[in-house]
Formats: sequence, C-alpha cells, structure tokens
Amino acid sequence: MRLVIVGAGYVGLVTGACLSDFGFDTVCVDSDPERIAMLQEGRVPIHEPGLEQLIANNQVAGRLTFSTTYEGVSEAEVVFIAVGTPSRRGDDEADMAFVHQAARDIARALTDYTVVVTKSTVPVGTARQIEAIIKAENPKADFDMAANPEFLREGSAVADFITPDRIVIGAEAERARERLRALYLPLVMRRVPIVFTGLESAELIKYAANAYLAIRIAFVNELADLCGGVGADIQAVIRGVGLDERIGLNYLQPGPGFGGSCLPKDIRALIATGRAAAHRLTVVEAAKSSNDRRVEGLAHRVADAVGGDLKGKRIAVFGLAFKADTDDMRRAASLTLVPALTEAGASVAACDPVAMQAARRHFCGIDWAEEPYEAATGADAVVVMTEWNLFRGLDLERLAQVMKQPLVIDFRNIYLTGEMERAGFTYISLGRPPVMPD
Ligand SMILES: NC(=O)c1ccc[n+]([C@@H]2O[C@H](COP(=O)([O-])OP(=O)(O)OC[C@H]3O[C@@H](n4cnc5c(N)ncnc54)[C@H](O)[C@@H]3O)[C@@H](O)[C@H]2O)c1
Repeated sequence: MRLVIVGAGYVGLVTGACLSDFGFDTVCVDSDPERIAMLQEGRVPIHEPGLEQLIANNQVAGRLTFSTTYEGVSEAEVVFIAVGTPSRRGDDEADMAFVHQAARDIARALTDYTVVVTKSTVPVGTARQIEAIIKAENPKADFDMAANPEFLREGSAVADFITPDRIVIGAEAERARERLRALYLPLVMRRVPIVFTGLESAELIKYAANAYLAIRIAFVNELADLCGGVGADIQAVIRGVGLDERIGLNYLQPGPGFGGSCLPKDIRALIATGRAAAHRLTVVEAAKSSNDRRVEGLAHRVADAVGGDLKGKRIAVFGLAFKADTDDMRRAASLTLVPALTEAGASVAACDPVAMQAARRHFCGIDWAEEPYEAATGADAVVVMTEWNLFRGLDLERLAQVMKQPLVIDFRNIYLTGEMERAGFTYISLGRPPVMPD
C-alpha cells in the first residue's frame, strides 16, 4: 500500500515513520520547505524519543520520503491529513484553514480510488466538509472519507502509535473500512481493538477524550489546593481514590495547569461546538476557567513563597516545555509564568534539557542556563515547571549550597518532602504540607 501523510509535524511525522515501518511506501508532505529540506538531509525538526532512528531506518530502506509537493497523492491508496488545527485568532473555534487548503491540494492530485483520512483533530462535520471541498474542486475524483483521530502523547508518541489502547475509524463506505483495517493489520494482530463508527462519532470521540482528561486534571489540581488548605496529602488522596477501578491512577497528578498543543485548544473547540449546537458543555467550560485561573495564578504563588514581593528576587525556572520529553512550547504554563515574574521585577534564569531552542524565541530579558545548578546559582527560589528526570535526580545538598536561600516551589511534586527536609530546604509543593526548616 502506498500512503501520503499531509503535514510533517508531531502527528504527521510519527504517523509516517510508524506506517513506513509497517512496510508501506510513505511520502510525508509539508508546505514548509525548510522542514522538508531538513528531513531529506536526515535531520528531525522535533524532539520525540525514538523518532529519529525510526525515520533513519525507513529512509535508508527507501520506504519513507519527504516532499513539498502533492505528486505522491495520485499513486496513494490512503492519504492522511495531519496538519495543524489551532484555535482561531480571537475565538474558541478551531482554525480550519490548513485542513481546507490540504483538502483542495489533495483534490487536484487525486486520480484512482483513494481513501482520504482526517488524522488531525477536527470539529464534528469536518469530514463531510472536506468531501464537499474535494467534490467541488475535482468532480471526477473517486474517493471515500474516513476520520481516524490520533491519541498519541508527545514524549511517548512512537510508543503510543504502535501500542495504542484503541484505533478509532469513522467511515461509511465498506471499501474505506476494509482498506484502513488492512493498514492497521499489524496492530490488530497484536489485539489492538478497532472501534468502527460513523464520521461524526469518530470526530467527537477525540474531543470527548481530551475534554475528559482536561476535566480530570482540573479536578485533581483543585483537590490538591484543598488538601493544602485542610492538612491532607494529595499523593495519599490520589492513591486512595485512584485505586478504585472506576477511577484509575493514570492522569491524576496535580501540576501547574495543563498546556500543550492539544488540551487547551481542543476544549475550546468543543465548547464552541456545544454552544453552536445549543448544548453547552458547562463541565468542560468550568475545567477551562479553572485551568486558566490556575496558570494565571502561578506567579502569585511564587511571590507568596518569597515573602510577597518579587522585586529584585532571582528565580530559577526548572523546565519550560509544557511537559517532560518534548520540546513543544505551545501553551506551556511557563509562557505565562516567566513574563509575570519579570514584570513583577524578578530576574529569571531558565533551564530546560531539550526545549531551550524552541523557548528562546518566546522570552526576552531572561538568563539561559546550560544546566540546573547554573540556573540555581544565587537564586532566591527554584520553581519546578516541568517534570524532567534531570531535575528529579539532582544532588539536593549541592543545589541548596549554590542558592542564595534553599527554597524550592515544586509545581510537579517531583521531590519527596522527607528528602527536601533532610537537605535543609523550604519546600512548597502541591497539596502536601510545606517543609519549613526549624
Ligand atoms: N501534537 C500532539 O500531541 C497531537 C496528538 C493528537 C492529535 N493532534 C492533532 O494533530 C494535528 C497536527 O498536530 P501537530 O502537533 O502534528 O501539528 P504541527 O504544527 O506539529 O504540524 C503541522 C504541520 O502541518 C504543516 N502544514 C500546514 N498546512 C499544510 C498544508 N496545507 N500542506 C502540507 N503541510 C501543511 C505545517 O507546516 C506543520 O509542519 C492537530 O489537529 C492536532 O490537534 C496532535
């Protein structure tokens, strides 16, 4: 089977690399010539564990190629659309400009029967819209639409793609279902369930999954604050609650507020869909405002910890990416925290093992440190924003020594309170009693 993947970003590249590894001839198309030139030279523009090797293997084997043109579409049996669907400027709805452009370009290149698949996260009704666009652009095109949303997580995207919990395929034509079943056969053989649905259901499943995850995080974040207020320990509460099989322990850790390229924009798009259909999703709306408040309040928490006033304070920020194992800075909580710290008169030294390059264009007037001890040198406080293993494994005594005062504000709960106490820190974490040296 020959495949084209339109959009060579986090989802498109991982999809292309993994499907070519299944043995399919795959062309990844991107409208960004620099990105394609890099990939053709064997360089990978994003950080994703295992991806570089997978791409290299399949490039060498001749199964995976990169192009800025849609030429490959005419020979492809399946074409995936994996372009971005960011929030539209000024409102909550998803911006469909990239998807619609891709649909027009695919339409012009279609020849024989092809299954056109949306892998991007797209609002309900998009597959039918694309169908109409293709028919208008190329009335003779022989194709069927399918919706195959992607559930991979950045940081473990390759592993998630090849061992997913399920594959969701929305398709009405039996021919399209059969072709996609054949495509995913290597996973079906490993007993990955396929959920076949209609187009609208598949589109909604993706948003519903992300909205549920967002609600869970917003809930555990508020619960952590309550624990802090009443002397309970959130880690104990999570374990006691999460061992209930109806609830589960996954995705139940407090943090600085969710960010990233998906949850914030996807819940906004789902809220917009609900409003447009006169079925408001008030629970999702509440999760969104809870999260917005939390992220905006991070700088106040840091100010409180340093005595109320950030003016003249030196703050070391550990981690800038929205989560560990990625260089993705989209809607990272650090994008709100760092400017708020500097506006309040603090000086900031930041350190991230992978996202520094991506982060540099977002911040000005801060110091960049190569490693955490350098960032912490002379600091009034360290703020942990991303749960990188690098920060978990630090020599805490050395950290305390290089700081002006040993104060850590941990928005990821990566340290044990006992070890922080032994190392002499004042340690403020989420939903656990603060550690205060005598
Ligand atoms: N990133 C994730 O973790 C993740 C997970 C699941 C689903 N998704 C969804 O997948 C989609 C893609 O997300 P992403 O993070 O990979 O985006 P991305 O921004 O990393 O990549 C999108 C790529 O598409 C290219 N592009 C845009 N218009 C194009 C066109 N007309 N023709 C060819 N290329 C074009 C861009 O140049 C870019 O390289 C989004 O809808 C997103 O919500 C993302």
